[in-house]
Amino acid sequence: MALLKILEFPDPRLRTVAEPVSAIDGCVVKLVDDMLETMYAAPGIGLAATQVNIHRRILVMDVSEDKDSPMTFVNPEIEIINSELGEFSEGCLSVPGFFEIVNRPRRIRVTYLSLNGNEEIAELEGLEAICLQHEVDHLDGKLFVDYISPLKRGLIRKKLQKLQRQRA
Ligand code: NI
Repeated sequence: MALLKILEFPDPRLRTVAEPVSAIDGCVVKLVDDMLETMYAAPGIGLAATQVNIHRRILVMDVSEDKDSPMTFVNPEIEIINSELGEFSEGCLSVPGFFEIVNRPRRIRVTYLSLNGNEEIAELEGLEAICLQHEVDHLDGKLFVDYISPLKRGLIRKKLQKLQRQRA
């Protein structure tokens, strides 16, 4: 396994729309292993392939307390089953150190491929539903800061760019 480098806002590569995966092969399995290792090491509760500069529709998450319940979604398609919105203070490994309230539907249904290549359907709510929507946004080139005011987004961009310059 290997730790992957996580792209940070405002890196334009985070705006890439990821391509569907046509088949689950050894490369996909290896990538998922590396993404899980990278997510746990960060530490984070979700990671989309886009964030590690691989533009295929793959994401991993683990919202469990003990970090022992990894979930993998390939080609996830979301359907909202309850449009009632819930608010949650979201963060992101690509926007390190910042948290902002985002409103999202509370209950969703997701159709996806599992790692054994089967098409699966799951109903998610609470943190799982929030996290999945956040990660699918990444696959579409979207970030949680797109939901906040342009003023706040601009401040976060400036602060992160300063930190990135200091590190370079
Ligand atoms: Ni994120």
